[in-house]
Amino acid sequence: MGLGTPAITGAAGNIGSVVREALRGEVERLILLDRVPLRPEAENEDVRTVDLRDATAVESALAGADRVLHLGGVPDEAPLPDLLEANVLGTHHVLEAARRAGMARVVLAGSNRVTGFYPAGHRTAPHEPVRPDGLYGVSKAAVEALGQLYADKFGLSVLCLRIGSFEQAPTEPRHLATWLSPRDAVGYARAALTAPPSPGFAAVYAVSNNTRRFWELPDPAVLDYVPVDDAELHADGIPGAEAQVDPAAPQAGPYALPEFTLRHLRP
Ligand SMILES: NC(=O)c1ccc[n+]([C@@H]2O[C@H](COP(=O)([O-])OP(=O)(O)OC[C@H]3O[C@@H](n4cnc5c(N)ncnc54)[C@H](O)[C@@H]3O)[C@@H](O)[C@H]2O)c1
Repeated sequence: MGLGTPAITGAAGNIGSVVREALRGEVERLILLDRVPLRPEAENEDVRTVDLRDATAVESALAGADRVLHLGGVPDEAPLPDLLEANVLGTHHVLEAARRAGMARVVLAGSNRVTGFYPAGHRTAPHEPVRPDGLYGVSKAAVEALGQLYADKFGLSVLCLRIGSFEQAPTEPRHLATWLSPRDAVGYARAALTAPPSPGFAAVYAVSNNTRRFWELPDPAVLDYVPVDDAELHADGIPGAEAQVDPAAPQAGPYALPEFTLRHLRP
């Protein structure tokens, strides 16, 4: 399957901007959504301002798309009501619009933080039970559950990318395991949008081919993309890169600490 007419939510964001730039030369029309007003940067870009929390507005904004890369949402720890509204309700609205329009494929932005409490010494596979490292991880677990529901109940084709640490280059020791390079982010997004539209749900880790990674790369039967970058090539420039990692420590590193979540809870 080709790229068809894709829509990208969260197109003004870090990942959305990079994927947008890469894909616009490959499609006839690229539909771009964000709550931040966007300016078309090419003739084939169709920009739409929308709040993901508004179901009717999401359905109108996605009109004309035959597949969607859903990146919009709150990308980090926050009060649970905010995460539920933007991430969980927002994803529900995107899936509903996709169901009603009969879209060929929905690609969800999941997160490695759904499994952040697995130890660093354990190479985690997508089928293992979730162990969220915070409220954000909980919201992304719910995002995956919604994807599974829409696949099982309504026959949608849904793929969830559990994104690692998207950065231009790795800058801290944890990134040596978790980095997702811009080039690999585009590769995963393109592969996910073009994979044959079999009904069902799958989650895969979207991470570069890092020597020290904690996560399994996708099964090619599920997603046919082999990442090309390796954070190890940047290790010399990262202070502390040579320190031994405690294999029993959570993969999430500082995100697993109580303080990280406590600042969003009542004292
Ligand atoms: N960047 C990473 O390393 C990383 C890691 C794991 C998962 N993810 C996930 O990938 C996705 C994209 O991440 P990012 O780093 O580009 O984040 P980002 O914050 O740069 O982009 C998210 C975009 O979503 C938009 N948005 C937020 N709430 C919205 C709403 N209610 N309605 C409409 N638009 C809204 C924002 O305006 C923003 O442009 C997110 O879902 C995030 O949780 C990112």
